[in-house]
Amino acid sequence: SQVHHIRQQVINWQAEHGRHDLPWQQDVTPYRVHVSEIMLQQTQVTTVIPYFQRWMADFPTLSALASASEDEVMAHWQGLGYYSRARNLRKAAQHLIEQHAGHYPDDLKSLNDIPGIGRYTAGAIRSFAFSNYGPIVDGNVKRLYARLFAIYGEPNSSAVNKTMWQHAELLTPEKQSERYSQGVLDLGATLCKKSNPECQRCPLQENCFAFQQNKIGELPSAKKR
Ligand code: ADE
Repeated sequence: SQVHHIRQQVINWQAEHGRHDLPWQQDVTPYRVHVSEIMLQQTQVTTVIPYFQRWMADFPTLSALASASEDEVMAHWQGLGYYSRARNLRKAAQHLIEQHAGHYPDDLKSLNDIPGIGRYTAGAIRSFAFSNYGPIVDGNVKRLYARLFAIYGEPNSSAVNKTMWQHAELLTPEKQSERYSQGVLDLGATLCKKSNPECQRCPLQENCFAFQQNKIGELPSAKKR
């Protein structure tokens, strides 16, 4: 089927051409996945790396983070912006210790109840930390799906978001979903770029509506302003 083919192309491409040496891909734990995914939400990989390393050196565990002062935690975020992310990480550590005995739950509902964690981060933790079914949609994934599946419309509208999540839920495999999830993130970031996407190297070229119909310039639709 089409779903199976696309999924397998993404997984094979990631094994051969995707990123495997990012710091949060080593010594994978739910805590390391959580911190990295929060940092990566509004910030580029190359900027995040040194912040991630310093964070892990000074707050190596959930309990270290939960018992640090807010000032100390905020100092580690200086320069990253969107400071509520850091405040929520500390609150999340306290929540996990109080409500879950210091262990990350692995179901999407409980993950969603953690301060600062939404649908994307819950899926990322399920996928990357627990190797469990965990669909994800972020800006990179949205651009890729918009082109692949001809998803027109205001990129942040609820209709478009709903369609994006439906595709993610269908395409994400039940097992080893981290390989698919990392694949769509890497494809979106390295080939399916906003400008000058490298379609010639893309494993989804044959299936891609925008490539086949010459609509790369029109997809994703421009944001209204
Ligand atoms: N962007 C968001 N999550 C990422 C990840 N796990 N690896 C690389 N880039 C990302």
